[in-house]
Amino acid sequence: MIGIFDSGVGGLCAYWQVRRMLPTEDIIYLADRKNAPYGTKTKDEILSFTRKNIKILKNMGARAVLIACCSASSIHHLLDADERRLSTPIIAPAAEAAARHGRSIAVIATRHTVRQSAFGNAIGAISDATVTELAEQELVSLVEEGNRDGRIDARCREYLSDMAERIALTGADTLILGCTHFSHLEGEIGRLLPRVRIISPARVGATKMVRGLTPCREAGRVTYM
Ligand code: DGL
Repeated sequence: MIGIFDSGVGGLCAYWQVRRMLPTEDIIYLADRKNAPYGTKTKDEILSFTRKNIKILKNMGARAVLIACCSASSIHHLLDADERRLSTPIIAPAAEAAARHGRSIAVIATRHTVRQSAFGNAIGAISDATVTELAEQELVSLVEEGNRDGRIDARCREYLSDMAERIALTGADTLILGCTHFSHLEGEIGRLLPRVRIISPARVGATKMVRGLTPCREAGRVTYM
């Protein structure tokens, strides 16, 4: 059994990828709505939510936990050794994927992730690409309110078009959707920035975790909490 958590619906994009790769695995998806949004919280608060989520999923029998949230992944190094061993954060794999070809990388993320410069530091450790990090916290609420590829309301459309201008001004050739919620709008964002390569940490992180696991024959059940 695998555990996946996020503050809300963002991690579902990672869940779909895990499910595609491991069709028979039982999965528990935990949305910590009580404490959402994570992006406006302090590092200590996010650390404590993350610890609690890992503990719940471990106690339910998870053999691995995917931290399908970039804000929570940014504090992975602060977890204790057992928590780190059980859980996979999604920032480093996405930073690696972006740094492979990107020379100018834009990151859109929550306020917390940008404040920590989580992607900037991860990319800076492996590449000399230029990194511009933009806090787009409001987009988290727009996704929680139901905006998705193919069904976006006028407010979201306007937000995305302003955001695309901000991104274009950075001269980016690569864009990291540095908050898993934003993967729900990957198609719309890609349409607005057709020449920019888009990296989804939700998908890249999920792929990385699954590749490190031996498949397990279970009933392929999913439990949402
Ligand atoms: N989906 C999360 C992330 O990747 C959290 C968004 C939020 O709750 O602010 O950062």
